[in-house]
Amino acid sequence: MTNIGIFDSGLGGVAVLNELAKKNKANYFYLGDNLRVPYGNRSKTEITSFATDIVNYLESYDIDYYIIACNTISVTCKDYLREKFKKEFITIADVAIEAASGFEGDYLTLATKATIDSHYYKKALEARKDCKVYESKAIDLVNLIESGILEGATLNDSLDEYLSIANEKKILNIILACTHYPIIKDRIKERLNYEANIIDPALYLAEKIVTEDAQNRVNIFMTKKSDETRDLIDKIMDVDYKLSFIGGL
Ligand code: DGL
Repeated sequence: MTNIGIFDSGLGGVAVLNELAKKNKANYFYLGDNLRVPYGNRSKTEITSFATDIVNYLESYDIDYYIIACNTISVTCKDYLREKFKKEFITIADVAIEAASGFEGDYLTLATKATIDSHYYKKALEARKDCKVYESKAIDLVNLIESGILEGATLNDSLDEYLSIANEKKILNIILACTHYPIIKDRIKERLNYEANIIDPALYLAEKIVTEDAQNRVNIFMTKKSDETRDLIDKIMDVDYKLSFIGGL
């Protein structure tokens, strides 16, 4: 049996978990810290400390390896977590960069403030190939999604602002560099005035993991009880799961 620990600041990683569990059977232990979401506007010290709390919680499940289903945590403290817990941590950000580099043309990285400020995607892609990487900080998208605002004028106004550079320059590839964004992928498509190649890293991550377990056991732990969260998880998940609200770390 393979025990896989997977985590995010909130709901975004649930979409990653869904893709993984559809393709590979394993014992999944997912933690979403929706009590303290969003992480993307926080300091490096805070993000590192919160990520450490998450892994400390998951460690009691005899985890074989971890998947950081959060770009913000990936680019902020993956090396710290590897060093501290002496385990393998696969990051959504590195899988995304590898997948994205296979496409022709320029890129827009759509991500949280912390991810954009790190310029992790820009540096990695521009070092790998001849391309230009534009960046857009989508400051309030995570909050909107966590509150269940998945359509409507408020969301559209935000998207129009964050996608304006893409609409202006018709950037060929748009990387959804925050795991929350695939939840509103169709809305993103609608707000573009051209057809872009929208890259959802979760799909590539699911291809990368191989397990040999005969059955799936999917446990989802969320730190804050909320009906919106329960409903959204239900909407996202295509496989059976057990949801527990653990009330903080
Ligand atoms: N899903 C997280 C990411 O991929 C969102 C971070 C946040 O909480 O702001 O970056």
